Amino acid sequence: MRQIYRAYSMQNQDHNIVVIGISGASASGKSLFSQTIVNDIRAELGDSCIAVINEDSYYKDQSHLTPEQRKLTNYDHPKSMDHDLLVSQLKLLKQGISIEQPQYSYKVNNRLPESKTVEPTKIIVLEGILLFTDPAIREQLDISIFVDTPLDICLARRIQRDVKERGRTLDSVLAQYNNTVRPMFLQFVEPSKQYADVIVPRGGKNRIAIDIINAKIRHLLAS
Ligand code: C5P
Ligand code: MG
Repeated sequence: MRQIYRAYSMQNQDHNIVVIGISGASASGKSLFSQTIVNDIRAELGDSCIAVINEDSYYKDQSHLTPEQRKLTNYDHPKSMDHDLLVSQLKLLKQGISIEQPQYSYKVNNRLPESKTVEPTKIIVLEGILLFTDPAIREQLDISIFVDTPLDICLARRIQRDVKERGRTLDSVLAQYNNTVRPMFLQFVEPSKQYADVIVPRGGKNRIAIDIINAKIRHLLAS
């Protein structure tokens, strides 16, 4: 353990930070998988060594659109994301510089006026559906993981979550799923699986996959 800490401080000097990308379909279990990795690492190495960055924070600003117009945006197409900002903020964190991260609301379908300060950490977990579609993001990743959950399970989870947590109606969730979520998954997300180092079935419940990835993170920190 002491050896790992020594490696941390050495890496900090040249800001050698480990970045893990976790992608997969909407409601595939990416967040639970990421959170489980983060909890394990924090329990062992302390709270301030790891942070999660959610791709959702980088949806483009839509303040110029009315609330009704914003409901029509295709949120599953790569062009809905400000990946340039995501990459530039990731590069700052890698240089040991804190960032002002945009905050996003699914209820108003827009960025919130206030941003959040994110401090640099030794390990960054980047989570989101469209990460692997962008070569500039792929270039930043040390480990790429695709959470591979059957689409019917994702849909069932998404209905529950969007109705309970994102202020949606059942009809709107199903219409969005048929019009954009499923077609964009097939066009962009599923083909981006080819860029993953590891494909994980059963997401956050796959304890063996989590242990293997945690071991790899420690290996990268110590190397
Ligand atoms: O957490 P998850 O990966 O499911 O978040 C991505 C999903 O959020 C996308 O599939 C997109 O359809 C949805 N989304 C939405 N409304 C927004 C922004 C994103 O329904 N305003
Ligand atoms: Mg999520």
